[in-house]
Amino acid sequence: METLPLLLTLAAAASVYLLWFYLLARKLTGPKVWPVVGSLPLLFMNRRKIHDWIAGNLRATGGVGTYQTSTIALPFLARKQGFYTVTCHPKNIEHVLRTRFDNYPKGPDWQTAFHDLLGQGIFNSDGETWLIQRKTAALEFTTRTLRQAMARWVSQTIKNRLWSILDKAVAEKFSVDLQDLLLRLTFDNICGLTFGKDPRTLSPEMPENPFAAAFDTATEATLQRILYPGFLWRVEKLLGIGAEKRLKKSLEVVETYMDDAIEARKENPSDDLLSRFMKKKDVDGNHFPISVLQRIALNFVLAGRDTSSVALSWFFWLVMNHPEVEAKIIKDISTILTETRGNDHQKWIDEPLAFDEADKLVYLKAALSETLRLYPSVPQDFQIRRSKRCSA
Ligand code: HEM
Repeated sequence: METLPLLLTLAAAASVYLLWFYLLARKLTGPKVWPVVGSLPLLFMNRRKIHDWIAGNLRATGGVGTYQTSTIALPFLARKQGFYTVTCHPKNIEHVLRTRFDNYPKGPDWQTAFHDLLGQGIFNSDGETWLIQRKTAALEFTTRTLRQAMARWVSQTIKNRLWSILDKAVAEKFSVDLQDLLLRLTFDNICGLTFGKDPRTLSPEMPENPFAAAFDTATEATLQRILYPGFLWRVEKLLGIGAEKRLKKSLEVVETYMDDAIEARKENPSDDLLSRFMKKKDVDGNHFPISVLQRIALNFVLAGRDTSSVALSWFFWLVMNHPEVEAKIIKDISTILTETRGNDHQKWIDEPLAFDEADKLVYLKAALSETLRLYPSVPQDFQIRRSKRCSA
C-alpha cells in the first residue's frame, strides 16, 4: 500500500475510535479514562490503597449513602469489553450473591487457578456440583444439632483456653496479640465444626500447627495465581519452582491431615459437617469420594476462619475505643442473662449462651453488624456475569 492512503486509513480509523471513545467516556460513571489504556494508569497509581480508591470512585458518582454503582474501564484486565461494574448497592449485591447467584459463575480462569486448593468445593464450583453443596450446607446450618455442635465448639474453646490465656496475661501483666489469639480461636472452631478435629492452635504455648501453616501457604500461593498473568504459574508449576513449589509441598501436608480426619470420621461419625457430607450423594447418586470430601471440608475452613477472626478483631478494637458501647453491650448481656438465668453469676458462665438468648442480644448484634459495615471481612468480591459476559 502507498504511504498516503495508508496514513489516511489510519487517521480515519483513529478518528472513528476517538469519536466512539468520546461518546462512550461521557456515559461512564467512574474514574477518569484515557484512550487505549482506560483507567489502568489510575489503577496502577492507587494499587497500594485499592479499597480506598474504589470507595472514592463510588462516592464520586454522587449516590446517597452506600447506594452507588460505577464502571471502571480496565482494558486487557477485564474480560470481553474491558469494563468492570463496581457496586456497593445492597439491592445489586443481593441480586448477585443471592437472587441470581446462578447467573454469576466462577468461570474457567478462576476455577483452574483455584482447582488445586479448592477442587470442586462450594467456592470453586458452578451448576449442579455447587447446588448440592449449597443445599446441604443451607439445610445443615439450620439444623438444631449443627447449631448445638457450633455452640459446643465455640464455648469449649473460649472457656477452657481463651479465658485462661487472658486470665494469665492479666495476672502476670503481659500483653497478648488479640488478633493472633482470635485467628487461632476461629481456626480451632472451624476445624472442629467442619471435620470434628480440634487442632488446638489456641493453647498457652501458642504452638505452630503444620496444618494451619500449610493451609496459609497454599492459600497465599493460590492467590498469586490470579494476581499475575496465567501463563506464569503454569510455567512455574511445570518447572516445580517458586510459589508453585510451595503450593505443592503445602498441599501434601494439608491432604495428609485431611485424610487422617476423614479416616477418623469414617470410623467414628459425629455431628460435624464432614460426617454429614459423607452421608450425602453426588449428582450421579454416588457417595462423594475421599478426594472430593477433602476439598469440601477445606472450602468450609477457608470460608469460616479468616472472615470470623478479622471481624472479631475489628469488633474488639472498636469496643476498646468506645467504652460507652462496651457498657451498653455488657448491660444488654446482663439484662438477658438475669431474665433467663437469674442473678447467680456462676450460672451465667457455666452454660454457653443458648441460641434464643443470643437472639435477644439486639444491641450486641447491631454492634457486630456495624463492625462489619465499617471494616468488612470481605471488602471486595468478584463475580463474572454469565449472560452478557462482562465482569461485575
Ligand atoms: C464475618 C464472617 C463472614 C463473612 C463476612 C462472610 C462473607 C461471605 C461472603 C461475602 C460470601 C460470598 C462469597 C462469594 O460467593 O463470592 C460468603 C460465602 C460463603 N460463606 Fe461466608 N462469611 C463469614 C463467615 C462464614 C462462616 C463462619 C462460614 C462457615 C462455617 C461461612 C461459609 C460460607 C460458605 C460455605 C460460602 C459459599 C456460599 C456459596 O457459594 O454458595 N462463612 N461468605
